[in-house]
Amino acid sequence: MIAVTPASPVAQLTGCRYLLGPIFGTIDGMTPSAAANGTATNGTATGGLDAGHPLMDGRTADSPLITAYRGGKPSRRPVWFMRQAGRSLPEYLKVREGVAMLDSCLRPELASEITLQPVRRHDVDAAIFFSDIVIPLKLAGVAVDIVPGVGPVLEKPVRTAADVAALPQLTWEALEPIREAVRLTVAELGSTPLIGFAGAPFTLAAYMVEGKPSRDHLGPRTMMHADPETWAALANWAADASGMFLRAQLEAGASAAQLFDSWAGSLSLADYTRFVAPASTRALDHVRHLGAPLIHFGTGTSELLVAMRDVGVDVVGVDYRLPLDEANRRLGGTVPLQGNIDPALLSAPWEILEAHVRDVIAAGASAPGHVLNLGHGVPPETDAAVLTRVVELIHSIAPE
Ligand code: CP3
Repeated sequence: MIAVTPASPVAQLTGCRYLLGPIFGTIDGMTPSAAANGTATNGTATGGLDAGHPLMDGRTADSPLITAYRGGKPSRRPVWFMRQAGRSLPEYLKVREGVAMLDSCLRPELASEITLQPVRRHDVDAAIFFSDIVIPLKLAGVAVDIVPGVGPVLEKPVRTAADVAALPQLTWEALEPIREAVRLTVAELGSTPLIGFAGAPFTLAAYMVEGKPSRDHLGPRTMMHADPETWAALANWAADASGMFLRAQLEAGASAAQLFDSWAGSLSLADYTRFVAPASTRALDHVRHLGAPLIHFGTGTSELLVAMRDVGVDVVGVDYRLPLDEANRRLGGTVPLQGNIDPALLSAPWEILEAHVRDVIAAGASAPGHVLNLGHGVPPETDAAVLTRVVELIHSIAPE
């Protein structure tokens, strides 16, 4: 039984295709998402983006990042860091003074400035949009805040069928501050691509059920078994909110999009496949037709990598626990990889960090494409100068 009902007959078709993928396979030379929207992965993605979009007008299509995401040979090794914007940067702390986290995300000039800061400082190959996975909840009218040092906290956890039925619907109009911040950002970025992102339905729903961060995510994991219908309704709500958030960013100018299922590692493969993957497929169904590369990342997901690819993405992000050559073996060499420098080593002596970065590059060489990143976000206490030096090191090693 698939507990999460797909969004539409089209979604149903694509969802089934991924679930049946191991049996029927996908069309040669196409990733699942490309197969779903009928585009090849070799740089000719087409779709619903305007002619003036950075991916369509020549600005970002041949950038090292997009080239590597599409399995081509980039002019230099692309690198960006999850949480590259944020507390590791003094210029971030300065502009955030006296402004609450979620308020900073909803002031377009400020969100744009914060997004650009790490690109200016580190010469990374992508900007990641400064926002948060709970912004779609906030814009829908759910009472949520980010408590410093804690994370997202909801005024009222969502635990019953009635709680889910009472959730307000996110509207397209409410996403205008997001579109505006993206427009301002891409106007400054030139040929550097902007990556949009959203939380995957499980990670978002985990916060909604618990009402706050938790370690084991017992609440949502109990709900999916004890009350699968309520779980499905909640996962679908989260899928549509995240899907609309992604679509707003891509249509306004983002050249790629990453779905973060940060807490999927707490699930068994069976539970992930049955209760979560259909909702993640549904979130991405909102944007597949746009033809931009889609990346899927989670932590502790070594056993889930194939299932995470099979929701229909072009690139898989790998956390620091699994070497990239082993990740590539598990994925059968089908997709470019992103990752996976251990964030802990950013505070180690330079020689140790450099050797580790070179190891990551060597392990990634087996994959059909490799974008350097961390195996999770930049720790707030990281010395920003170390990040800049890591970028210089990576750019100094010629692509193969
Ligand atoms: O540079 C970037 O990566 C862009 C921005 C970004 C933020 N959050 C900004 C942020 C992104 C991509 C996210 C995604 C996000 N938010 C995830 C998925 C990625 C991951 O890290 O696993 C998750 C799980 C959240 C939820 C969340 N928001 C947490 C757990 C926290 C940390 C709380 C704390 O203070 O320790 C946040 C707050 C948050 N989101 C900060 C930033 C820069 C820190 C807030 C601050 O600087 O005051």
